[in-house]
Amino acid sequence: MNYTILGTGSYLPERVVTNADMEKLVDTSDEWIRTRTGIKTRHYSTGETGWYMALQACQRALEAAQMSPKDIDAIFVSSATPDYMVPSTSCILQGELGAENAFAIDINVACAGYIYVMDMAARYLASPNINHVLVVSTEQLTARTNFNDRNTCVLFGDAASATVVGKEGSGEILTSILGADGTGGHLLVSKNFDPENPFLEADWQERWPDRFEGHIQKLYMNGAEVYRFAVRKMSGMIKDMVAEVGLTIEDIDYMIPHQANTRILEAAAKRLKFPMEKMYTGIEKMGNTSSAGLGVGIDECVRTGTIKSGDLVAMSGFGGGLTYGALLLRI
Ligand code: ACO
Repeated sequence: MNYTILGTGSYLPERVVTNADMEKLVDTSDEWIRTRTGIKTRHYSTGETGWYMALQACQRALEAAQMSPKDIDAIFVSSATPDYMVPSTSCILQGELGAENAFAIDINVACAGYIYVMDMAARYLASPNINHVLVVSTEQLTARTNFNDRNTCVLFGDAASATVVGKEGSGEILTSILGADGTGGHLLVSKNFDPENPFLEADWQERWPDRFEGHIQKLYMNGAEVYRFAVRKMSGMIKDMVAEVGLTIEDIDYMIPHQANTRILEAAAKRLKFPMEKMYTGIEKMGNTSSAGLGVGIDECVRTGTIKSGDLVAMSGFGGGLTYGALLLRI
């Protein structure tokens, strides 16, 4: 089935926070952050909400596609850090854009979310009455960052991205992989608020203690464990996808992987014997922006002409849940 990227957009907040800025907050160093993660700067919201960042990205994507919001049949948003439980970010965008013909769905798959919403779009586009989908991710990780925890606070940044996809044109999804490993849920946790229900009974705490006891709203991560999971999954999924469609790693023109850590990308590239020069790396300037980073990557690669019509592009993501996913796209 045809699946063509018709327009892309992204938004990074203006405020750039350097490693030197982080040194003032926690016991860290530019040297540690650069060598362990590849990150030099990240963009922080100074008040922009997640939906506002997404709105900017969507407007840029629609402009690039030369389409009106009324041409959009569905809006799918991935976010692990939504501004509200209700209404959903996709509904806020639908209203702000005036996308009056679109239905709206949010999902939370943490960092693998962009793969999931791209895949969802392809499946909905198979329906005869859906022609254009606005695929979005927005992550305000600073809202969930513990700025006293040096293990995590140096890693994250804020961003939003949007991609208009449709079934006209010659693009195609050749295959995709989606998966989850809930047994690793404790490795990356951000708890919702505690209920203030006056009928709570204390003994429930003993009968069924918090599944991830001790974790609060701010993000907790066991980085080393997630690292191992990421390297293994990323290379394995790419190998499985090319084998499934009868191609080889050499046939891939470009890779856009989840931007979590340069060392993860280098380790996966080594395992796959794939050149780093053909892999998108935006982590240096934006840090880990969870599911938004993949969409920022698509936007940059399309706008700079790094990926163009006919190219074979592999995308992959992994994150809290744990979740993972990958796509093989003919642009
Ligand atoms: N500055 C200085 N030292 C630090 C810092 C810091 N910012 N952070 C940790 N350290 C210290 C630790 O305390 C530890 O010290 P110790 O040995 O005295 O205890 C030491 O550095 C090594 O810590 P490790 O955790 O082993 O460091 P590692 O090399 O694994 O790097 C990192 C940590 C960067 C987090 C890495 O594990 C990683 O990138 N993991 C993957 C993260 C990821 O991909 N997440 C994806 C999903 S994110 C999402 O879903 C929102």
